[in-house]
Amino acid sequence: MNAKEIFNKLWKDYTEQNPSAKKVYDLFSNEGEDVQNDHIAFRTFDDKRVNIDVLAKPFLKAGYEEKGEYHFEQKHLYAKHFEHKDDTSMPRVFISELITEDFSKFLQEKVAEIINQIPSNLLESDELIHSGRQWDRPSYENYQKLREESEYAAWLYVYGFRANHFTVSINALKKFDSIYKVNQFLKDNGFLMNDSGGEVKGKPEDLLEQSSIKSEIIKVDFQEGTYEIPACYYEFAKRYPDERGNLYSGFIAKSADKIFESTDYYKKKA
Ligand code: NI
Repeated sequence: MNAKEIFNKLWKDYTEQNPSAKKVYDLFSNEGEDVQNDHIAFRTFDDKRVNIDVLAKPFLKAGYEEKGEYHFEQKHLYAKHFEHKDDTSMPRVFISELITEDFSKFLQEKVAEIINQIPSNLLESDELIHSGRQWDRPSYENYQKLREESEYAAWLYVYGFRANHFTVSINALKKFDSIYKVNQFLKDNGFLMNDSGGEVKGKPEDLLEQSSIKSEIIKVDFQEGTYEIPACYYEFAKRYPDERGNLYSGFIAKSADKIFESTDYYKKKA
């Protein structure tokens, strides 16, 4: 699979699971906009069978290279971003991994338990990145226990390997030249913005502004029955040129710490 095929597959799974993402895409398309991705983000665990380096393999083969690394101390995450070597129209790939040793024995055991169930031929394969959940139907009790420690771990436990979010490049939009216009347009159309840390994360001086709509709430079948929980979100990014006139291409750890909370409904409601 080349990178475009991987993204198409991921987009299909993402929009099937999160119909609101397709609605947002269509909203902008219907305004005559060319909706391009700034980046696509993935989540994983730091276990060496499934860590960032493993998930990055198909992208490296498809012409991507590593460009930056990030530490999200609050969330106990480590991340890297990748860019296509020569095709600037290709989205950045952002992959984070949970530093499991920072968590309880319970969380570490649950993570080992699910990774042990992934077929070994899949671990070696480029299909892993979009293979979804490769373990037994999750238990709602475990999901909730994991969520108390890490919403990120709980999300992975339920959904497995898939895109966590796609990100609309505001730079590629014509009519919507500011992130505030994008947010207003989304709100006018009934979408809820993630307002943890303010609706807009980052300032023009940081060279990156980001916002996101709240995750879709979907029905998931657990061992104990069906429950409604957050799925994926859609993000928006506007980049600014640096002093030398080059468009900033990295990520900002402190903004992303907040944006990770887009899938974190329960804390918000409390
Ligand atoms: Ni992102």
